Amino acid sequence: MVLKERNFTEQDCHLYIISLVSKMPNLFCQMVKKMILILLTVIIITYCIHPGRFAHYYTFIKEEDMVHELEESPLAQKLSETSGLPLCPWHILNESSYSLLYPKKNVTQCDLNELSVKLDIKLGGTWKPSNCVSRFDVAIVVPYRNRQTQLEIFLLYMHSFLQKQMINYRILIIEQVEKKDFNRAKLLNIGYIEALKLFPYHCFIFHDVDLIPQKQNNIYACTHQPRHMSSSLNTFRYNLPYRGLFGGAVAILKSQFELVNGFSNMFFGWGGEDDDFQSRINHKGLSICRFSPRVSRYVMLTHSKELPSETRFSNLLAGKNRYDVDGINTLVYTVRNSTFKPLYTWILVDI
Ligand SMILES: *[C@@H]1O[C@H](CO)[C@@H](O)[C@H](O)[C@H]1NC(C)=O
Ligand SMILES: *[C@@H]1O[C@H](CO)[C@@H](O)[C@H](O)[C@H]1NC(C)=O
Ligand SMILES: *[C@@H]1O[C@H](CO)[C@@H](O)[C@H](O)[C@H]1NC(C)=O
Repeated sequence: MVLKERNFTEQDCHLYIISLVSKMPNLFCQMVKKMILILLTVIIITYCIHPGRFAHYYTFIKEEDMVHELEESPLAQKLSETSGLPLCPWHILNESSYSLLYPKKNVTQCDLNELSVKLDIKLGGTWKPSNCVSRFDVAIVVPYRNRQTQLEIFLLYMHSFLQKQMINYRILIIEQVEKKDFNRAKLLNIGYIEALKLFPYHCFIFHDVDLIPQKQNNIYACTHQPRHMSSSLNTFRYNLPYRGLFGGAVAILKSQFELVNGFSNMFFGWGGEDDDFQSRINHKGLSICRFSPRVSRYVMLTHSKELPSETRFSNLLAGKNRYDVDGINTLVYTVRNSTFKPLYTWILVDI
């Protein structure tokens, strides 16, 4: 042993180093190969789970074309003539600054109390411009249950947002009493019927309470075709997860909603109803449109995820046979309370 140790001379050491160095290119090569493999795997996985993988495959209305796509209220022109007021200008459509708007998350009761005075909101959460005639009469219908904090953020943000767009609007909060599973679609149908009892709105926006539009030129009015408004969500990193998506916030003309017989009333629990609605629209020869992703940017307010409904797929499959026998023409419900609150029209319903 002792001998061996002694034999390990400086020369041996050199030899050892030389042999190691001669192997180096080989080792290096293997390392690079491994790294490339890992990199490729990461790219493939990212591509597969990235919500924006279909983002390039959808068409949208360019910013400069938005003005040609909008449907004006049939009442506007006549009202402008009889009242002597001009129609409101379009300038908000040019408001395409890059800066994104963010909602105030910390809303106090004081903020809300001040709002109706500051913005001159009428009882029931309705407003219209006073020095010009709005081109759009829009009912914003929000299905609701147990989302007090989000509702406050939504109201504080939306009133001033809509007023800058000079829209004649009303915000309707349609709340479902406890008991059954949440039925978003049926609440929207109810909102439609109830809104028309208050004013002949020509355009309806069906809107989730947790969505906040970030671009001031994302105008809350209807286009010639039903429009998917919230196509660029921050939670999907401002991408569209799939092309057929038609939920969140959508705008549709009264005549079109009538034509498709509204939403199905059968979707209890979370999910499916928006896909069914999109099928109804296509079935009647309409097609959905979107504004540019630069315009349709939204923030989603966070909340705990709902569990998807177990019947959503079977409902969806059976949906085709029900378009004409399940919708606003078969809507049955009971209004438990209907109150004009300072910032919204509140309708509590038992479905
Ligand atoms: C937006 O601004 C451009 C340039 O100033 C103008 O040509 C265009 O008509 C404006 N569009 C609208 C909708 O006001
Ligand atoms: C929200 O506002 C209250 C009162 O103004 C303040 O005490 C609190 O720290 C605020 N919270 C956040 C997250 O800003
Ligand atoms: C309806 O709600 C309002 C406000 O919460 C309340 O004051 C009123 O008593 C309710 N009416 C009925 C009939 O329950």
